[in-house]
Amino acid sequence: MKYRSEIIGVGSFVPPQVFTNFDLEKMLDTTDEWIQQRTGIVQRHWVDAQACTTDLALEASLLAIKNAGIDKSEIDMIIFATLTPDHDFPGSGCFLQAKLGLPEITALDIRQQCTGFLYGLSIADKFIQSGSHKNILLVGAEIHSKGLDKTPNGRNISVLFGDGAGAVIVSARESTNAVSESKIIATKLYADGAFAKELWLPAPGSALGDERINHQLLEEGLHYPQMNGKTVFVHATKRMSECLLKICVENKVDVNDVDLFLFHQANLRINSKVAEMLSISESKIFNTIQNYGNTTAATIPLGMDDAIKAGVLKKGMLVASAAFGSGFTWASALWRQ
Ligand code: UT7
Repeated sequence: MKYRSEIIGVGSFVPPQVFTNFDLEKMLDTTDEWIQQRTGIVQRHWVDAQACTTDLALEASLLAIKNAGIDKSEIDMIIFATLTPDHDFPGSGCFLQAKLGLPEITALDIRQQCTGFLYGLSIADKFIQSGSHKNILLVGAEIHSKGLDKTPNGRNISVLFGDGAGAVIVSARESTNAVSESKIIATKLYADGAFAKELWLPAPGSALGDERINHQLLEEGLHYPQMNGKTVFVHATKRMSECLLKICVENKVDVNDVDLFLFHQANLRINSKVAEMLSISESKIFNTIQNYGNTTAATIPLGMDDAIKAGVLKKGMLVASAAFGSGFTWASALWRQ
């Protein structure tokens, strides 16, 4: 007997507090016009002081479990994608596992930033295919708002990011005929560490001298993300279109036959450029950046959930996804919803 994977439940959660571009005008030297024109973002959700990343993940996970129609005791693995963990260690998967009350099940954290969800989907798919696990909770969750430089110095990055969580249940189905019955058709994962410092968070870190963090590093602002936006933009459009085309060609799928594209949401202009490069109708791309900003690993499952709720994503549809982010990492996936 072979095992194939399918996504049987989706859930998402964003904290209630909304910060519009106009709210940001009051803190940063920025304008609603600049943010909308350059990124497409209108608002983002930011948590209050008490919330932590696994709180958001817990809400999204419980909804995904409910929508999957399973009992939480049927989950045998957690894959947690985040770049904003509750603590440096242990991984957020362990904290979430305790909050869910699922002692002993496998808990794995992954650190692929904006590409985290697709890396996680690929890992889940492989564990399912191996026959070792049956119901995997894959969650992407982020609290960026607590790690951004909210002074004019940080305006080029701080306007971009939002908080949120999205989760899916990836489940095993028995299959006699391998690939043709697979709901998760393929995933492709890439990285190029030569560009690691084009988008990164230097501190705390073991590469910084005799202490992972100290007052000087804080004064230099190295605990805030650093980004060369133009380089990231150029590589994102190239790599996302490249890996999307490749996964379609390798799986004999015409790009025009894809029903819906769920792209990572870093910049509306990146997604429009990818659509232009591959002659994809913009009406087939489900964008959420207007409402949430970039929620890195949470973006794709959050978008999936919104697309289902909006009636845009229906069972049986052929979905293609692509993401690009820090690392650089990039990935694509094809599945039947
Ligand atoms: O998932 C991966 C995560 N990141 C990305 O994918 C980001 C990819 N890059 C981008 O999306 C774009 O590069 C940004 C949206 C970040 C920036 O857009 P840009 O068109 O590349 O702008 P820029 O950085 O070249 O800045 C243009 C101007 C500069 O002023 P001068 O030098 O022309 O006077 C900036 O100082 O805009 C200024 N600027 C701002 N002005 C108002 C930068 N940030 C802001 C801001 N508000 N928030």
